[in-house]
Order: sequence, then structure tokens, then C-alpha cells
Amino acid sequence: MTKVLITGGAGFIGSTVASALIDQGITPVILDDLSKGRREFVRDRIFYQGDIADQALLDRVFAEHPDIYAVLHCAAKIVVPESVSRPLHYYRENVAKTVDLLESLQRNGCERVVFSSSASIYAPTADARADETSPVAAESPYARTKQMMEQVLQDWTVAAPVRVIVLRYFNPIGADPQLRTGLQDPNPSHALGKLIEAHTEGTPFTITGVDWATRDGSGIRDYIHVWDLARAHVAALTRFDAVVEPAADDRYRVINVGTGQGTTVRELVTAFEAAVGESLDVREAGQRPGDVIGCYASGDLAGELLGWSAQKSLVDGVRDALAWREKWTAQLAG
Ligand SMILES: NC(=O)c1ccc[n+]([C@@H]2O[C@H](COP(=O)([O-])OP(=O)(O)OC[C@H]3O[C@@H](n4cnc5c(N)ncnc54)[C@H](O)[C@@H]3O)[C@@H](O)[C@H]2O)c1
Repeated sequence: MTKVLITGGAGFIGSTVASALIDQGITPVILDDLSKGRREFVRDRIFYQGDIADQALLDRVFAEHPDIYAVLHCAAKIVVPESVSRPLHYYRENVAKTVDLLESLQRNGCERVVFSSSASIYAPTADARADETSPVAAESPYARTKQMMEQVLQDWTVAAPVRVIVLRYFNPIGADPQLRTGLQDPNPSHALGKLIEAHTEGTPFTITGVDWATRDGSGIRDYIHVWDLARAHVAALTRFDAVVEPAADDRYRVINVGTGQGTTVRELVTAFEAAVGESLDVREAGQRPGDVIGCYASGDLAGELLGWSAQKSLVDGVRDALAWREKWTAQLAG
């Protein structure tokens, strides 16, 4: 394996995966329209600016890099509330354009695809645990685009000599430990982002929802360090042909990528306070519309198939998120 095409490789996860590949001597070829990706994240990397649905551009990429071994399809629109207000935009960007991309891959003889899916497609369960066989019932247009694409990809593997590994990510946090790239938005809206905001601004942090059926009443997530997530992609590529054999009847495989550890919002606050060595002013409020109990990975399919497990701690994730934010805000200001 010499080269791997990463769509969305100028974004948060794709750029981190690109760094992990480079560290293993694999060359990423990046395609991104820079709608959310950052030019700084592709500096010194092979980069094509353009749309995943641009079939002529994809033909050029494959003509110029005939040694592309596989495609990691990370490009997508990812903001859940925006997907509620602009569903057609999300279905076009994440579903229709991905179908165009798959046609380009098929035309260019690319047979290995790793797809960025999301644990947000799982139906809520009583104990908040989800393994790959748990029922799916996506609740937002964004999550439905992921659920739909999984179905499209599975159908594609039945009809064409292609193979697909779907990675269902849980909740990525942190940044590349070497701080090459990280989140584009210095003030993300997820719980860790709100904690960072409370810490830097000296404002209260509010736990929204304290009567969920969890051990302490607050919602639960499975925070996975983005570097561990990136390593899971390297493992999926390295083991691709063993995980989905070319001649297998079933050439489609779903694998959860989480730590297997549920972390409640209260536990996240405790880890954050440990990382910064300071207590926050923590308040409590009721659930907001659309809030969910959350879920965390159960079982160990990623360990069995990929020989992979998460190695970094929650505190590592908090520290790397803070370090990246400091570096990135200074870079943006300068
Ligand atoms: N961040 C999360 O919490 C999370 C969780 C589960 C799954 N995922 C999935 O992981 C993938 C990467 O997410 P991320 O957090 O890095 O988001 P991101 O927005 O940072 O990265 C997505 C990248 O895709 C690019 N892009 C979007 N539409 C494009 C198009 N039509 N053509 C070319 N490029 C396009 C954007 O410019 C951006 O750089 C997405 O598929 C997302 O659904 C993310």
C-alpha cells in the first residue's frame, strides 16, 4: 500500500488520519472542497481542491495516482441542527454526491472503501450500550444520511466487485498529539467545547439533563481520542484484505470505533477539572429538546478484526484539545 485517497482530508478527522498514515509511510492523497476544511491542514500534502461529485476531477486524481490502494470517505456535512433546517442540502451533499463518488471509484477500478459513519444512527437502548448488531434508527437528517449511505454501500458490494468497511465513530475529542491539525472551530458546541469555554471565560458550565437512566443521571457518551480513531483507520487499511476478503460472499463489514467506556457528563467534568487543575462553577438544568441519553460501544469487534483498541485516556483528550486550541487561536490571530 503506497497511497490512500482521503475525501474530506482537510477536515478534523480526515487530516488527523492523514497524519497517522504519513507516520506509517503511507502517502495520503487529499480531496476536499474546503467548505469546512482548512488549507493549513493540507500544507505539504498532495491536495486536490474540489467536490466529491466532480467525476472529471476524480478521473484526474486516479490518472495521476494509479497506485491508490483504497479510499477513506470522510467528506460530509456534519452539523445536526443545520441538517434539520436544511435537509435537502444534507441529502444532496452526503447521499447524492457520495453516489456520484462511488460511480467514479467504480469507473476507476478502486475496490476498497472505508466509510466514516456514526454511532448516532443507533436506536436508543435502555442501558445506553451499542454493538454492531444493535438496531439502528437515526433521529436527525444528518444521521439518516449516514444510515442511508450504509445501505447504499452494502447494496453496492452485492452488485460490484467492491469491498467496504464502515467505521461507526463514537464521540471524537482531542487533536493530533503533535498538534499538526485539530478542530477548525476553536469554540465547538459539544460538551467538551462548553467546558473549555466555561474554563477560559470563567463562566458557569451547565449540565443539561440530570434525570437520565444513567449512574449519575447525566447523559452518557463514548469519548474517543481522535488519534486513536485515526489509528483505527490505519488498522482497517492494513488489515483490509483479511477483514473483507476479495472472494467473500459478504464484502461489507461494520465496525464500531469507541473506547467501550461510557462517560457521563458529570464524569467528563471531573476529568476536565483534573486536566486543568481547577474546579468549575457547575450548574444543572433540564433536558433540551432533541437531547438523547447517548450511547457507548460494547463488545470488541474492532479488537478482534483490527487488533485495535483505544489507548488514550479522557484526560489525554482534554489536554490535547486544550493544547490545540491554544496553538490554533494564536495562529488564527497572527
Ligand atoms: N466529528 C464527529 O463528531 C463525527 C462523529 C461521527 C462521524 N463523523 C464523520 O466523520 C467524517 C469527518 O468529520 P469531521 O468531524 O472531520 O468533519 P469536518 O467538517 O471537519 O470534515 C469534513 C470535510 O469534508 C469536506 N467536504 C464536505 N463536503 C464536501 C464535498 N462535497 N466535496 C469535498 N469535500 C467536502 C469539508 O470541507 C471538510 O473538510 C464525516 O463523514 C462525519 O460525518 C464525525
